[in-house]
Amino acid sequence: MLTLLVFFVVIVAAVYYNIVEPLFLDPKSKIPGPKLFAFTKWRLALEDFRGSRTRAIHALHERYGPIIRIGPNEIHCNSLNALRTIYGAGSGFERTWFYRMFDAYGKQNLFTFESGKDHGERKKLVANAYSKSLMLTGPAARMVQEKVTQYLALLKAQGEQPQEIFSSLHYFSLDAITHFLYGPSHGGTSALKGNAQHRALLNDIVDPTRRYLSWFAVHQPALTKWMYTREGLLEQLLRPILPMQKPTTYTGIRKHALEAFHRFKDAAETKSDILASESSIISRLWTSHESVKGSGPRSLDSLDIASECADHLLAGIDTTADTLMFLIWALSQPQNSHIQKQLVEEVRSLSDDAFEDGVPKLDAIDKLPYLDAVIKETLRLYAPLPASEPRSLPTDCVIDGYRIPARTIVNMSPYSLHRNADVFESPLTFDPERWLGPTDKVNLMNRWFWAFSSGGRMCIGLQ
Ligand code: HEM
Repeated sequence: MLTLLVFFVVIVAAVYYNIVEPLFLDPKSKIPGPKLFAFTKWRLALEDFRGSRTRAIHALHERYGPIIRIGPNEIHCNSLNALRTIYGAGSGFERTWFYRMFDAYGKQNLFTFESGKDHGERKKLVANAYSKSLMLTGPAARMVQEKVTQYLALLKAQGEQPQEIFSSLHYFSLDAITHFLYGPSHGGTSALKGNAQHRALLNDIVDPTRRYLSWFAVHQPALTKWMYTREGLLEQLLRPILPMQKPTTYTGIRKHALEAFHRFKDAAETKSDILASESSIISRLWTSHESVKGSGPRSLDSLDIASECADHLLAGIDTTADTLMFLIWALSQPQNSHIQKQLVEEVRSLSDDAFEDGVPKLDAIDKLPYLDAVIKETLRLYAPLPASEPRSLPTDCVIDGYRIPARTIVNMSPYSLHRNADVFESPLTFDPERWLGPTDKVNLMNRWFWAFSSGGRMCIGLQ
């Protein structure tokens, strides 16, 4: 009889905590969305596994409106009001644990800090190097022009044949970003010039199993860690079923980044003039490391610097190369030939002194409105980071009129924001002209444009 009673209590408690409470009593139960998503996180995880998470969430927004529940403790929004509340400067919302998979060498960095305070301290050390004026006219601008020249030479050397631009654009972004971060002598790569070892660094990016490892790291973090830390016989037995044969994503790139850091460190410790002559990100971080050596919240140790640089490298390669690839692909479509023509005419209209060695200077092309519109339209329709950017708040709050309990995971995505038909007419059409239209329309679209995120955690590489 007692066993039966215990069994009954367990069943009632299980039904209450797993069904009644989350689906009917939790304040989030008032938020629209399919009950299966609200009941179990595995429903959304299934979309993730299929590679259709972002599109599935967008379809739910189209069906249920601008705020939806996508998991027992997770919601997704698609309104300007929510954008301000969650991602506005000083909102108090923090990045979630999801970002910790981007820690490098066991150290946090700009991308992975949760709290605004840790993040703000670190940002102060590097933000200036990314300022628009330095990017357009400083040493970085000359370096980018040099990489453009090398890219054009690579295309020319391949002749009239159709070109595979996914790889070559990745060579371009890899070379430009490694030179920017580490300088030419310590980690700057030469993939554009044909260095096979540097080109091979991109193998990590095209490895199709990378997606499965990310899935396991997000949905089964403890199991994933356990599987990759086994040794001996158990390691041999597990190897065939590992989601990805390498233990972390971007293994080669992270190794290169660490070696670059060590090369720089050795040089900085032996040659005192190196810091004065370098404008790289690593030398800036090293200078601050030297000036606040010791303990205290602002001091950086060697691995902090290595992690910070590796993070910027990973954040910059795919995003830059993928945007350029989509831009070229969009312009190559027969229906967009008039756009390509107009763009060429705009660049040709530049005066002779806007060019250096046959390549337009960055500060000159920054002033071209049609080019700006083409880039913006590419980032709108083919945002290289289209997916949700999860955040959470330590206290309760109200979003779009719904009470959201503390530590609920809240998300928004460029993919959904950029496809709102009330803001972007014919949202699925590639139409740069929309950015040249009447000012009030453009102002509204600008407020919905979110390819680089917004607020304190927006992309530092925006320029
Ligand atoms: C078209 C190019 C790029 C796009 C669309 C882009 C987009 C983004 C977005 C959406 C975020 C926020 C992600 C989130 O909160 O989940 C971000 C953050 C970041 N990006 Fe970019 N990015 C681009 C290029 C770059 C480049 C070239 C670099 C550096 C070389 C870079 C460095 C960073 C860093 C360090 C962060 C973290 C910023 C912080 O938390 O303060 N990005 N980027």
